[in-house]
Amino acid sequence: MKNNEISIYIHIPFCERKCDYCAFVSFCVNEKEEDKYIDYLTKEMENFKTSKVVKTIYIGGGTPSILSIENLKKIFYTLKSNFKIKKDAEITIEVNPNSLSEEKLFEYKNLGINRISIGVQSLNNDTLKKIGRLHNKDEAIKSIKLASKYFDNISADLIIGLENEKDVYKYAETLIELGVKHISAYMLEIHENTPIFEKFNSQKYLPLNEEEVANEYEKLVEYLEKKNFHQYEVSNFALSGYESRHNLNYWNFGEYIGFGISAHSYINGKRVANANTLKEYFNGVKFQDENNSKTEIEERIFLGLRCILGVDLKVLDKLGYKMQNNENYQMFVKKGILFEKGDRVYLNKKYYLVSDFVISHLL
Ligand SMILES: C[S@@+](CC[C@H](N)C(=O)[O-])C[C@H]1O[C@@H](n2cnc3c(N)ncnc32)[C@H](O)[C@@H]1O
Ligand code: SF4
Repeated sequence: MKNNEISIYIHIPFCERKCDYCAFVSFCVNEKEEDKYIDYLTKEMENFKTSKVVKTIYIGGGTPSILSIENLKKIFYTLKSNFKIKKDAEITIEVNPNSLSEEKLFEYKNLGINRISIGVQSLNNDTLKKIGRLHNKDEAIKSIKLASKYFDNISADLIIGLENEKDVYKYAETLIELGVKHISAYMLEIHENTPIFEKFNSQKYLPLNEEEVANEYEKLVEYLEKKNFHQYEVSNFALSGYESRHNLNYWNFGEYIGFGISAHSYINGKRVANANTLKEYFNGVKFQDENNSKTEIEERIFLGLRCILGVDLKVLDKLGYKMQNNENYQMFVKKGILFEKGDRVYLNKKYYLVSDFVISHLL
């Protein structure tokens, strides 16, 4: 990893409608509010000075595909005028099937975007409706076909554990037939203060139980392995060469700058988070993590063990934590749950599903 390189994350907190399960910082706004946000966002970018070279850019949300082309152009103009961007930088935009169009895809390509991440979630119309998505199966498929006219590097998101969703691997089959090169499959998380939480509590929404989720996950992993989609993180699978370089940078503790509401940065060993409300964000409120080395130890273990990069034991040692002295560590190594290679330790992929349990016993 070169330390004169950096990644950039840009948060676009707008959605046409909030999905029932989603706890990301996003909301519905009008055109005027969108313009105001882009003004503040581009100012924040202009005020940041770095001589580092940008190797990946990720425009996430929310739903970046609802941005007007003019506003997206403003973001790219600011990026290009204020940062040195590598020629082969990976530049991703997150899109929703219902807000994608051929005109937008054409502009994305012109702006230098080279990776599209599409939120599919499911290919079952009843499920999509139940979770509040604004697209159906055919529209999701159509958007992937349209995107593949312009882009080769396409990723799709699925959710495992939604009500009545058995055989999620069959969705992966369709996605692969459509030419998708990367799949993110997230286990459904039910967050407080989301509509799905209320429905779940009153038994109006019945997600799969733990055993069913495990079963779905295992079938999906097995299917994707067969299709040469190798698992490089608990929820991420890709054909060789199509792994997300942006995410690998996070998991490998590379530096990144986050712009926009709720975005996080990690620079010179320091973590800073932007405010989660528009009012505070417009006032420039930022939170600095004061407990740096404790957070870093926990994050290194959490992020490293959940992906193929593993954890560098020497780095942990330098930060003041000798993980080998943890009594559970030796037991996990003996049982083949963890394995050591050189100075690094890895979680055996068979145990990715219980990674949270293993990690909680190592901290
Ligand atoms: C930042 S979201 C935005 C993506 C895009 N706006 C969309 O909805 O298609 C990225 C992904 O997180 C996943 N996600 C969001 N909330 C989730 C939840 N509660 N449980 C599991 N996955 C979730 C979805 O798969 C979603 O596509
Ligand atoms: S899942 Fe995507 S579209 Fe749905 S509310 Fe979250 S960010 Fe918006």
